[in-house]
Amino acid sequence: MSSRGNWGSRVGFILAAAGSAVGLGNIWRFPYITGKNGGALFVLIYIGCVIVLGLPVMLAEFALGRATAKNPVGAFQAIRPGTKWHYTGFLGVLTGVMILSFYSVIAGWTLGYCYKSLSGQLAALGKGQAAALFRSFIASPWQLILLLGIFMVLTVHIVAKGVSAGLEKYSKILMPALFLIMLLLMVRSLTLPGAEKGLLFYLKPDFAKINGRVFLEAMGQAFFSLSLGLGTMLTYGSYLGKKENLVSSAAWVAVLDTSVAILAGFIIFPALFSQNMAPDQGPGLVFAILPVIFAHMPGGMGFAALFFLLLAVAALTSTISILEVPVAFLIDEKKWPRRRAAWLMGALAFAFGIPSALSGGGMKFFSRLPVVHVDFLSLWDKVWGNVALSVGSLLIAIFVAHVWKTANALAEITAGGVSFRLARLWVMAIKYVCPLLILVVLVSQFF
Ligand code: PFF
Repeated sequence: MSSRGNWGSRVGFILAAAGSAVGLGNIWRFPYITGKNGGALFVLIYIGCVIVLGLPVMLAEFALGRATAKNPVGAFQAIRPGTKWHYTGFLGVLTGVMILSFYSVIAGWTLGYCYKSLSGQLAALGKGQAAALFRSFIASPWQLILLLGIFMVLTVHIVAKGVSAGLEKYSKILMPALFLIMLLLMVRSLTLPGAEKGLLFYLKPDFAKINGRVFLEAMGQAFFSLSLGLGTMLTYGSYLGKKENLVSSAAWVAVLDTSVAILAGFIIFPALFSQNMAPDQGPGLVFAILPVIFAHMPGGMGFAALFFLLLAVAALTSTISILEVPVAFLIDEKKWPRRRAAWLMGALAFAFGIPSALSGGGMKFFSRLPVVHVDFLSLWDKVWGNVALSVGSLLIAIFVAHVWKTANALAEITAGGVSFRLARLWVMAIKYVCPLLILVVLVSQFF
């Protein structure tokens, strides 16, 4: 296993897994999806999905990865050679490249906003101006493609260097720093005049707003935010030693990840309602309101620059985990050198990212696709970031519970004398609750 690389320490593993989980999914995606789906009730369903679906699947991915010490394709092959199960791994590899493509476009937005804060373009923007600035920003094709390229090169560079080298060291300081700025932003947002309306939207469930789509969005958001369904956590688990406690690691990752997402909501919604802005404006939501909050803070532009920079770092710890999936596949199964694998997959993700970069007005066709009538980025986010991850998680749950069998998975989880008091609950969840629930929610979309 040492030739594939290994984690330096237990804390190193939790940090890396949490680094994968915490990213744009928490700060960009969670608020916009919550806004689109009516607020408080969605948040409750989301937390339910994290506990009932996310945690069990995360544990299943960790166990499968560590037991096989393989990439997602190799892991299925190792346990059931000669079957078609390894196509689940291929789906993961494909999903990884596709998510990386549009995710890096949004990461490029954060780099762009970091620059805008430093150059004074964000200074003292009112709500109308902030929204207008954002609209013209996402309609500028070359700028966005350049930012996408810069971000992709950063990601590839780090992955090419190997698993334990690099970013985790820095994120020990940088992620708590991001959290601190977010706390500050929350205080500012909550004390804006009219903030209470936002709190009501975020905390008081309105049962009239429930429909089938809400469940799909909450489920998909849980998988997306926890980095599940494409084999990221499986791959990270494959670099793990037998002594580590998979149960507590999964719990830590879920708690950290969910806290950051909930905190992001406490920043966005009070400010949004205090400015009488609509919560359901889609992927641009956070970028349209954050500059307004910064404009209401002393030293706001400095905070803005730092915030967008740290957000880009959080995105980077996520993109390296996504790219690691196809790269580990090429290293293990095709015996490619790490460098070549990383550059090729990065180039592919860059190419697929271009339509997303052009979908905010840069090119008419991608900004409003025929037939589906949405922009390319929103479509990709839905297809890969939601549906594909849900399908992947479904297949992983079925495989671990019914093909590999829970007894084997439990033996892996409790290896080295780790106690797992909720083992029976986990077995129930991964055997019945996860497969049935995911299937029902997915199938219900067709009616
Ligand atoms: N969890 C990351 C986030 O919330 O930003 C995104 C992500 C990473 C999704 C890894 C999927 C994945 F496999």
